[in-house]
Order: sequence, then structure tokens, then C-alpha cells
Amino acid sequence: MTTRHVPAAELHLHIEGTLEPELIMELAARNGIELPHASLADLRAQYQFTDLQSFLNLYYANMSVLRTEADFADMTRAYLARASAGGVRHAEIMFDPQAHVARGVPLATAVNGIAAALAASEQEFGMTTALIAAFLRDEPEQSALEILEDLLALDAPIIGIGLDSAEVGNPPAKFVRLYERARSAGLRLIAHAGEEGPPSYVSDALDLLGAERIDHGIRSMEDPALVARLAAEQVPLTVCPLSNVRLRAVDTLAEHPLPQMLAAGLNVCVNSDDPAYFGGYVDDNFAALVAGFGFDADTVATLAANSIRSSFAGADRKAALLAELGEWRTQQG
Ligand code: ADE
Ligand code: ZN
Repeated sequence: MTTRHVPAAELHLHIEGTLEPELIMELAARNGIELPHASLADLRAQYQFTDLQSFLNLYYANMSVLRTEADFADMTRAYLARASAGGVRHAEIMFDPQAHVARGVPLATAVNGIAAALAASEQEFGMTTALIAAFLRDEPEQSALEILEDLLALDAPIIGIGLDSAEVGNPPAKFVRLYERARSAGLRLIAHAGEEGPPSYVSDALDLLGAERIDHGIRSMEDPALVARLAAEQVPLTVCPLSNVRLRAVDTLAEHPLPQMLAAGLNVCVNSDDPAYFGGYVDDNFAALVAGFGFDADTVATLAANSIRSSFAGADRKAALLAELGEWRTQQG
């Protein structure tokens, strides 16, 4: 079975996490920025993570090369090209507006650059997209509220909000007003929960924030009552296997709970999170699952169908992608 081109939606993707080392060096040179790493090899040597925070430190540092609209557009276009080559047919893409504003980059520069690449995506790559503003949970809620108002004032083409960055110690309860405001503005609501944080963060993201989809959610498996609820409500969980291994949320892929999540009837799908940092795009994640767990074509198709159904794409687009997936499944024999 080839899983390389299973048509799927990617629902958990940080666009800043697609900045490949080569592009970091190129943008640094273009913008006259001196990086602490003299060479590509020096930079690559930094990609050894012990936990989420050790990754975030490098992820935020590397963003310093993003200065102009063209930088954001080039990064986004590179992701679209790579993801579409790997079978991604629809992508819901997060960006971290606070991380750019904090280092003096105007909000409009980030938004316009990313949006310009997304606007050309259907024509260039046959890939539909949506943009989601993710807020940094280790920053005060007030900062998020202000940036959300700025995004609304700019009429930024966002369909929703998310919550990311350092999870433990920054529970969903901290962001109740932010999610109320976003809901009143007609935005869709997602949140990272249960990556490093406890299962209670997953239930709180659902109950206190009204999250429609949970990013990661793997630690839910520690709480049988929560698992039963997630199965009954078919809450979408955007799982990122290679990310979880690289950030040591699990020791090895063999210990990843995805098979148990499927067996429990959870609505899980496969995503890349920060593919430039974690060793692969969506197709690489599928390939690792097939190699590691022996997932068959039906299981791969189930995961892909979950991603399409759990997306915020319109009904017609979902139907078209599910039909494409049906053809793929038939071809697998
Ligand atoms: N920001 C980028 N990637 C992230 C992750 N895996 N968890 C939390 N915040 C992030
Ligand atoms: Zn993430």
C-alpha cells in the first residue's frame, strides 16, 4: 500500500513551524540578520528537543528572520507546495500573531503575507485553505484580547482562533473572555489541550472555552470518563505523532496512543504540527504509522476521512474530498 498520496486535510499546522532550516538561512541573508548559528549545520544541530519548551525556544528564535510580507508569503508558499505534494487537499493553518508583533513586525505584514500565498493556493496547488489566529497561552489574556481586536479591525481573513505555546500552568480557564469575544465575532474555536497538560485541560477547553476541536488531546487517554465523552461526542482530536515523539510526549512511536484512540472510537486525524522541526509532513506521519503499526488502507482512509469531516470546509468541498478519498481507497485494492 502506498500512503504517500492519501488525500487528506491538515488541521493542525503552525505556519511558523514550516520554516525549514534552508529557508531560515536564506531569509536571514536576505534581511541582513545575524543568527546565533553560523552555518546550516550549526542550526540543524539545535534540533534536539527534550520537551515542548525546549522546542518553543528555538521556534520563537528562528522567527526573527521573518520581516517582510514577502518572507511570510515565501514561507507559506513553500508549505503549500510541500503539503500538496504529500496529498494534503485542504489545510487549516495557524499563525502566532503575538510572536510577530512582540518583535516589532506589524500585524498587517504577517497577515497580508500569509494571506497572499493562501489566496493563490487553490489555483496553484488545488488546495483549499483557511487561516486561524493562535494565541500564546503563556502570555496574559489581555494581550490576546488586544491582538484579536486588531485582527478584527484589520478585517484579517481568519476563520477562527486557537491556543498554543507552553501548556502546563496555563489552563483554558485563563482565556474564557478571549473565547467569548471570538465566538461573538462569529469565529470558530479550537485549542491545544492534553499535549503536555493533564486531561482536565481537555474537558476545560470544551466546557469553559467551547472549543469545537482539540489539538493533540493525547493525554485524554489517562481519563476513561473523558475518553467515553470524547467518543460519544465525536470531538475531533488533531493528533501529531512525529511531534509527540520529538517533544518526548511519548518515548517512542511504538508507545504512541493513536491505535488505542482509534480502538476507543475517538475522532482522530493525523497532522504534522511543525513539520520543519519534527521530521516530517502529513505524508511522513502516515508513512511512520504504516511502518510502525502496520496500519492498513482502511485505517489510513478512516484517519483521512476524519480529517476531512472535522475540517471547517464547506459541505460541497467535504463531499468532493471524500469522493476523492473513496477513489484512492478503491485504487489500494
Ligand atoms: N506552537 C507551535 N507548535 C506547538 C505545539 N506543538 N504545542 C504548543 N504550541 C506550539
Ligand atoms: Zn500545535
